[in-house]
Amino acid sequence: MTLPQHIAIVMDGNGRWAEARGESRTVGHRAGVDAVRTCVRACAARNIGALTLFAFSSENWRRPEVEVAALMSLFVEALDRELEELQRNRVRLRFIGNRQTLAVRLQQRIAAAEAATADNDGLKLQVAVGYGGRWDLIEAARRIAARCASGALRTEEIDEASFAAELQLAGLPDPDLFVRTGGEHRISNFLLWNIAYAELHFTDRLWPDFGEPDLDAAIADFAGRERRFGRTGAQTRKGGA
Ligand code: FPP
Repeated sequence: MTLPQHIAIVMDGNGRWAEARGESRTVGHRAGVDAVRTCVRACAARNIGALTLFAFSSENWRRPEVEVAALMSLFVEALDRELEELQRNRVRLRFIGNRQTLAVRLQQRIAAAEAATADNDGLKLQVAVGYGGRWDLIEAARRIAARCASGALRTEEIDEASFAAELQLAGLPDPDLFVRTGGEHRISNFLLWNIAYAELHFTDRLWPDFGEPDLDAAIADFAGRERRFGRTGAQTRKGGA
């Protein structure tokens, strides 16, 4: 079976999972962390090269202050608690997003976790916090413009490769499988550039309930797709150009 090289996941449905149990939304986010752990372990065990998780979008700042505060504490707590297991599994952890918007305490934990796992050669795990796909594109455009203005880059040299090298996921293969839990069929401003050719898999499963069988169903769905990249089906099946 063809395995995806890079899975990107919009983890949706924590709030509904909690509300269905008469619990606060924070209880749902806590259950969401357990599902993250299961998913990271499962991807590492299946030799998936990279996993990128949407934990907090630039738009999520609009949520009630108590929920935002609870999520930020949860990120700090999860980093403190999970780092040891990430190290044991040789996971390389990186954060993508606008870190300047995060509390200094969280920024420090993030920097420390990234430094501690930087040389790990296992699963490349990206956690998007304060991330938006349009923000990512604008930041890249700004850096390119600055390089052009300083004379370091000529405008004719701007191409897909030089542009992608300025994006948050620079250096990683594009996600080839995009998964969204929670029943909505939306991209929600995640990785707009990088998912140009990704296979999309939507499931009604709420994120805290997303387990190994659901990951395997998404992988099997991916394996069954014909990836054509603009070619005809006949060309792809022949493996021709
Ligand atoms: C979406 O569900 C989920 C979030 C905005 C937060 C995601 C956070 C986690 C899964 C926990 C922490 C993750 C890490 C990496 C430590 P929702 O609240 O929008 O659910 P709803 O659509 O049912 O309201």
